[in-house]
Amino acid sequence: AKLHEHEFVVQATPVKRLCNTHNAITVNGQLPGPTLEVNNGDTLAIRVTNKAQYNLTIHWHGVRQIRTGWADGPEFVTQCPIRPGESYTYRFTIEGQEGTLWWHAHSSWLRATVYGAIIIHPREGRPYPFPKPHRDSFLLLGEWWDANPIDVVREATRTGGAPNISDAFTINGQPGDLYKCSSQDTFIVPIDSGETNLLRVINAALNQPLFFTVANHQMVVVGADASYLKPFTTNVLMLGPGQTTDVLITGDQPPSKYYMAARAYQSAQNAPFDNTTTTAILQYKSAPCPAKGVSIKPLMPNLPAYNDTNTVTSFSKSFRSPRRVEVPTEIDESLFFTISLGLNNCPPNFGSSQCQGPNGTRFTASMNNESFVLPNNISILQALHHGIPGVFTTDFPANPPVKFDYTGNVSRSLWQPVPGTKAYKLKFGSRVQIVLQDTSIVTPENHPIHLHGYDFYIVAQGFGNFDPKKDTSKFNLVDPPMRNTVAVPVNGWAVIRFVADNPGAWIMHCHLDVHITWGLATVLVVENGFGELEALEPPPEDLPLC
Ligand code: C2O
Repeated sequence: AKLHEHEFVVQATPVKRLCNTHNAITVNGQLPGPTLEVNNGDTLAIRVTNKAQYNLTIHWHGVRQIRTGWADGPEFVTQCPIRPGESYTYRFTIEGQEGTLWWHAHSSWLRATVYGAIIIHPREGRPYPFPKPHRDSFLLLGEWWDANPIDVVREATRTGGAPNISDAFTINGQPGDLYKCSSQDTFIVPIDSGETNLLRVINAALNQPLFFTVANHQMVVVGADASYLKPFTTNVLMLGPGQTTDVLITGDQPPSKYYMAARAYQSAQNAPFDNTTTTAILQYKSAPCPAKGVSIKPLMPNLPAYNDTNTVTSFSKSFRSPRRVEVPTEIDESLFFTISLGLNNCPPNFGSSQCQGPNGTRFTASMNNESFVLPNNISILQALHHGIPGVFTTDFPANPPVKFDYTGNVSRSLWQPVPGTKAYKLKFGSRVQIVLQDTSIVTPENHPIHLHGYDFYIVAQGFGNFDPKKDTSKFNLVDPPMRNTVAVPVNGWAVIRFVADNPGAWIMHCHLDVHITWGLATVLVVENGFGELEALEPPPEDLPLC
């Protein structure tokens, strides 16, 4: 196994997109940032130096961080932010994961421009579980604002309303040629007749689940979130923010140019969204040269309608692990978490310009009616490790405080989220099941729920209210897929299982950034087990302090 050392310098950089130049926060002046390419079993040491004007941290999305929770990155959960002028080195090892993950800033909305791919090849000398691809590329799907994203979220927080929607989606940082002033920089993936390309698709957008498709080419899905899958063929993918999907594409069409395109899957009702399409081009190397002055227009694929939940359902039902896996069958901790948006009444001391949510309210969001608030002068993991009281409590409820028809109309007076910093404590080694239930408060929506520090099995998902009597019998305890982010169906539920064998403080949140801003998160605190191998490592010497 190798050690990979990297220097990340975070700084404001002029970036031109959609006809305008802005200063954007980037890593090493690149957008997207540098790619980390490793083998399973390798160790990374990434020194992050903050030369920007904002506090920041970086998260290695999906990396298990076994006993290295200090390197996980969410600000005020596992570390204090790296202040302007300071550095911190994230050290961790990839243990057992193969495929595609990614990294991103985990402070405010900085991840709009601070992100990059993590490519994990098989262990050195080991093969892929599919024929070796001729070419390996990645497509980072992103979201671009013709404004500073930090200002966008600050304005939303001030007014209590919904933030402005983005101005473009991007592929590897470029909007693509359907947008103004963007045609020169459209990203091109080369392919040759008969070749098979491994294409790693990553949804790094802030607030939008996305459909992805390629004109005239089928995709064979072989992995997701750095776990292999039983291969299946599809012509469209749906990825929630945070999710990755690895596909094989074969050059079996007439040599030419074909669009690869991504567009919104929007399940929230009556909410404005960015309905534009980003493109890249799949280009055959043997494509005939057009006559001078003639340009070949790539073929455009059909994308599903923005609200096509049926396509999403049949896509996610195709996911299986390649073989029988060890899913916990006995459960020690059976948890039920509701996922809600909410509306808070305007506080009496607030002016109307601060209450611009629906009917003079302020948007909020919660799990089990708890709206998560980060500490601001120490991280939860430091407080846990050093036994510092008063930073967080461990009374996050295992079940929702009131029960009702989660997918029916509910008066919001029943459901006024309580702000607080509440974690749920798990014993080392406990076998955990969490039912994640969407609700219809404000609007039902497909929520990508991400858990740090773990991969989990998705044993079932469905629509309506989860019913333990009739739905338990449908659990797949044989070959469910393993992921780190589950797209909980709109007006429905998903059930995940895992063994709590990684000590630390692990945030679980909706990966739509606006929902984290509003509090849709909690923290799972996992105690140390016995002995050195079941305990969190000591904090690194350069861990930033508040
Ligand atoms: Cu990719 Cu907590 O995030």
